Amino acid sequence: MARKGTARHRYRVLVWTEAGNGRRAWQAWVMAVQINPSILSADFARLADEAKAVEGADWLHVDVMDNHFVPNLTLGVPVVESLARATDTPLDCHLMIEDPDRWAPQYVEAGAGSVTFHAEAAAGPVRLAREIRAKGARASMALKPATPIEPYEDLLPELDMLLIMTVEPGFGGQAFLDIMLPKIRRTRELISKHGLELWLQVDGGVSASTIERCAEAGADVFVAGSAVYGANDPAEAVRALRTQAAGATASASWACDH
Ligand code: DX5
Ligand code: ZN
Repeated sequence: MARKGTARHRYRVLVWTEAGNGRRAWQAWVMAVQINPSILSADFARLADEAKAVEGADWLHVDVMDNHFVPNLTLGVPVVESLARATDTPLDCHLMIEDPDRWAPQYVEAGAGSVTFHAEAAAGPVRLAREIRAKGARASMALKPATPIEPYEDLLPELDMLLIMTVEPGFGGQAFLDIMLPKIRRTRELISKHGLELWLQVDGGVSASTIERCAEAGADVFVAGSAVYGANDPAEAVRALRTQAAGATASASWACDH
């Protein structure tokens, strides 16, 4: 069976540049951006409807919290199983839990198309990433704000996505941490240096006022909770964020092979 949500598009854009001798148009290939609404900001009593409200989204971001790794408790395997049956949008499960080595494979079995574990919590990140992939999902690793990317450079080929937290994990609605932008930039450089097809996700405080900075720095997958579910029209909020991120990506130096 084909995995849901694994297709990735590149598209052609015209980029205009101003030079001393006038304007010039360049053809460029740009990676398509992805917008993943976080159901942490949705109404948990109406999850199936809330999933439908963002059907144009690329993935549904599902925050699993165990009240140990983070000081908050949300949902677990049975809810992910039900949600996977209730929506065609693939599930991007972000596990903010201790001992992901033990629990993460169950989220693949529950129907997640992508499973993210935290570097700070995993005892054997390489073994775990391989197990997630072997079970048929995309393997992803998350870094809290104080965790540097550099020690993980050699692990990147084992992953399908790297998640850079732009708030301390645990709660929706927090203010975006600008100080994470250099880490996003350095991670994008590592991805380019090794020629990897690794997606770079940002999560926390991503909104109309911060998404362009994230895209410009090198992110290509954007989680948004309150910016989507706090809007009057969540589907329209997804479209607007996509337009902003795509625009910023089209003019970002990392995304274009002019
Ligand atoms: C926070 C979660 C996020 C959260 C983001 O720990 O991982 O996914 O839902 O919410 P906003 O977009 O409101 O910051
Ligand atoms: Zn999350």
